[in-house]
Amino acid sequence: MRIILMGPPGAGKGTQAELLIEHYKIPHISTGDMFREAIKQETPLGLKAKEYMDAGALVPDEVTIGIVADRLAQADCSKGFLLDGFPRTAAQADALAKILSDLNISLDGVINLEVAEKILLERLTGRRVCKQCAATFHTVFNPPKIQEVCDKCGGELFQRSDDTIETARNRLKVYNEQTEPLIAYYSKQGLLKSIQGDGEISQVFRNIVEVLE
Ligand code: AP5
Ligand code: MG
Ligand code: ZN
Repeated sequence: MRIILMGPPGAGKGTQAELLIEHYKIPHISTGDMFREAIKQETPLGLKAKEYMDAGALVPDEVTIGIVADRLAQADCSKGFLLDGFPRTAAQADALAKILSDLNISLDGVINLEVAEKILLERLTGRRVCKQCAATFHTVFNPPKIQEVCDKCGGELFQRSDDTIETARNRLKVYNEQTEPLIAYYSKQGLLKSIQGDGEISQVFRNIVEVLE
């Protein structure tokens, strides 16, 4: 299964990705997670990405496209993959089309999670992420069994530095300007499947699997 998971910040891409990669046994390719890992390791990529992420802006296309092209060329992607948060610009979508055609493969679907803006801000500002395994929780909507501790691995939970109200607002603005147009791009190709993203997490997951099968 080769899937793109689209949707505004806080739509539930990471949350649904955790369930989908388990279900389809495919690698999870999240450019946001890759940048955060690079920041943690203090690599040159991390240092560059950090200034953009902290502002809620997009990391430049040439950097982002390069890391995704390298990742898709790895052996574990041959059976399928889930792209989370990529592509996010027209240039990234065109680059992806070229990468896939060079590899002689095509997408099975583009899932677009739809959630109202007011709910998105509540989700982002209450989100908690595991330091060790990147599992995602929410203080109110999806609380861990023990406060600030990951249910999955016992790791410590933290708040992403871009989940402040100001940065979250800017991320939504950037999404509307640069990423939202990709909905029409994939719709024209007959690949787009829009899913209501504000039900129960398990119900949203069932709805995604249903449209993919
Ligand atoms: P990235 O990490 O991709 O962030 P994002 O797109 O802003 O999306 P989020 O991760 O914030 O939201 P999500 O949809 O994954 O929601 P989640 O499941 O966590 O990117 C971060 C930054 O990296 C960008 O701003 C940019 O700088 C850079 N970047 C990344 N990719 C790039 C690219 N391709 N090009 C350029 N730059 C790039 O859920 C959110 C919260 O809601 C959680 O607390 C969760 O528990 C809760 N929740 C989830 N589902 C539900 C539900 N159904 N009901 C109630 N609560 C729910
Ligand atoms: Mg995410
Ligand atoms: Zn964990």
